Amino acid sequence: MSRFSEPQDLDFQRINASLGFDRRLWPYDIAQSKAHVTMLAAATIISERERNELLAGLDSVAAELGAESFAFLPEDEDIHSAIERRLTELAGPVGGKLHTARSRNDQVATDVVLFVRDAAGVGRASIEELISVLLARAEEHLDWPMPGYTHLQRAQPVYLGHHLLAYAWMFLRDRRRFEQVLEACSVLPLGAGALAGVNFATDRTLLADELGFSAPSPNSIDAVSNRDFALDYLAACATCATHLSRLGAELVLWSTSEFGFCELADAWTSGSSIMPQKKNPDAAEMLRAKAPRVLGHHSALHGVLHGLPLSYNKDLQEDKEHLFDTADTLADCLAAARGMLATVTFDRERLAAAAADEMIAAVDIADLLVRAGVPFREAHGAVSALVRRALDDGRSLSELSDDELSQQSAALDPQAFRALLDSQSWLESKGSHGGTALARVREQLVAAYEALAAQ
Ligand code: ARG
Repeated sequence: MSRFSEPQDLDFQRINASLGFDRRLWPYDIAQSKAHVTMLAAATIISERERNELLAGLDSVAAELGAESFAFLPEDEDIHSAIERRLTELAGPVGGKLHTARSRNDQVATDVVLFVRDAAGVGRASIEELISVLLARAEEHLDWPMPGYTHLQRAQPVYLGHHLLAYAWMFLRDRRRFEQVLEACSVLPLGAGALAGVNFATDRTLLADELGFSAPSPNSIDAVSNRDFALDYLAACATCATHLSRLGAELVLWSTSEFGFCELADAWTSGSSIMPQKKNPDAAEMLRAKAPRVLGHHSALHGVLHGLPLSYNKDLQEDKEHLFDTADTLADCLAAARGMLATVTFDRERLAAAAADEMIAAVDIADLLVRAGVPFREAHGAVSALVRRALDDGRSLSELSDDELSQQSAALDPQAFRALLDSQSWLESKGSHGGTALARVREQLVAAYEALAAQ
């Protein structure tokens, strides 16, 4: 006899089943079940013999899953029920004791937090490797002048090392976000039961210790409802993916013939099926395109949780694919970014030629006037008139005559003006804290290495 008088509709089973994707949770499910069994015996809820039988059975199930010889059955709804079913087949009726003082609700919350904890740890390590590559490449190209851009228009010259370090700081912030995720993953849901706690004198602190959590959750309802750690993880991944997309976009742009600032290694590019001359920056383009997918997963989980009554609802099953795809996507993106950055070659001459464009000294000329006492706004006007005049008849700024210069501003000393354009000191004059002057970039590099080494 069962509560139900008819079998499940096949279409119901399709929308309800999660085995197709949650089977990858098996290592976490086995680990928590072993901890649970250990705790049950320590609390004398099951006997030591039963514990040993259950542990041995779980090891056998794990071996089958690890060897991919585990035979899933059509009636296995999710990985949790599949493992329990197989355990009972292998260990006999004692397998039925595994679920004592546990519900699938606290069980699945525990598997998911274990997964996210691992994924955040892997993400953090991978981000660190990427930062190491960035720092090495920044150090190599510390004093290579290039144009800096705003609005994608040449703005002011910077050193390539400075530009690459900007990415290092972005990823250092990402690393911190992953550390915060790890903190959000430090509370154990297991032992909360379905939602209200359980009718046995369990030892949740022992469970927390066994599974590496700092404490059991203080509220059983919150324990089975909570997916904040998953939201935090997806948010951290979305920001990181967005950072990677900006890097990808710059690599695409810089490797064009138009820019010619860099060349991606062949290993990270593809050919065209029709145009033999082409070398396409596909991986960099994919970095650009993957970011919205990760953000989509983050938004989707917010959508699942939005307005969801406490405590467990089947809606929560819909957390997994967003998490899994995010973890896989971000891992691929981080690996690609690391690979491309480690092997890209920069073209010093092309960068320097672009950085030598006199027009990008406009702010420096304005500041020359400011030093002579002219208010900045007025200096800005005078220099923009000079730029206009030069552009109008296709001259460079240094081709303007002394008369033309003093016509715009009596305070403009033609000699100082020419010396400024000549010396191309525009980079080294940016000595403010965090600026692009070489000494500042060197300090910054040291600070970035220290930040990376600090845990
Ligand atoms: N497959 C479910 C999930 O992923 C497991 C928990 C099921 N709990 C339940 N009460 N039906 O959320």
